[in-house]
Amino acid sequence: MTGDLSPMDKAKYAAARQAADMVQDGMRVGLGTGSTAAWMVRRLGERVQEEGLRIKAVPTSTRTAQLARELGIEVVSLDQVGWLDLTIDGADEFDGDLNLIKGGGGAHLQEKIVATASDQMIVIADAGKEVETLGAFPLPVEVIPFGWQTTRTLIQEALDTMDVLGTSAALRMNGKAPFVTDEGNHILDLHLQRIGNARQLALVLNQVPGVVENGLFIDICDKVVIGHGDGRVELRDINDGTIELDQSVEAGENLFSDLAD
Ligand code: A5P
Repeated sequence: MTGDLSPMDKAKYAAARQAADMVQDGMRVGLGTGSTAAWMVRRLGERVQEEGLRIKAVPTSTRTAQLARELGIEVVSLDQVGWLDLTIDGADEFDGDLNLIKGGGGAHLQEKIVATASDQMIVIADAGKEVETLGAFPLPVEVIPFGWQTTRTLIQEALDTMDVLGTSAALRMNGKAPFVTDEGNHILDLHLQRIGNARQLALVLNQVPGVVENGLFIDICDKVVIGHGDGRVELRDINDGTIELDQSVEAGENLFSDLAD
């Protein structure tokens, strides 16, 4: 199986595994959505089975909830626990301040609620997700289906006053039909190319009637675990300003042995 994984998937796996191993017994944990988060959920499932790790998990999508249940992880609702110790999730882009674009998988509404209701949010990502300025990845904006075309026009008018390079807003499709989120909404992907002031844009977008939530995560992420294709992992903490490198690869440990046939 290891041979089947691309360097990017190995990087995602390395980051996901490191973050999953930071989860402690008894924690209430938010589980993100996406391919990197799925590796993290699988690793937590292993720890539940092998170590008897006890956690209460709040998934951020029906997809993640199904995977967690299949792996024997106890799934609860956010309202049942009220608050979380830790959320681990992927990202589509992160910058030097650990501000993020999320929602490539269409789950950023639940992801933002869950991450905000956590003492700590850890992002797991391959090194290719790091950018100097957010915006090359299209920014997802969840909108209610009623009047979505008018909402799009209002968003584009608002974008005309913002420090961005593009203003096109594409309705996300699922085959021939509009993509529908877990909350029954649609997503507009904003092709902005470069976001000069992400904090301001996040506030302005959420003022537009019909917008439910945008995919900019500002001052929400505390740490990022960055994976590389050779298994190296870097941990950055924005609050402490620290950077740690995992030495296990240099020490000869085969991180991917668990994935071997
Ligand atoms: C899901 O809506 C997204 O926010 C994902 O966390 C993000 O798209 C990262 O996904 P990958 O881990 O699949 O790259």
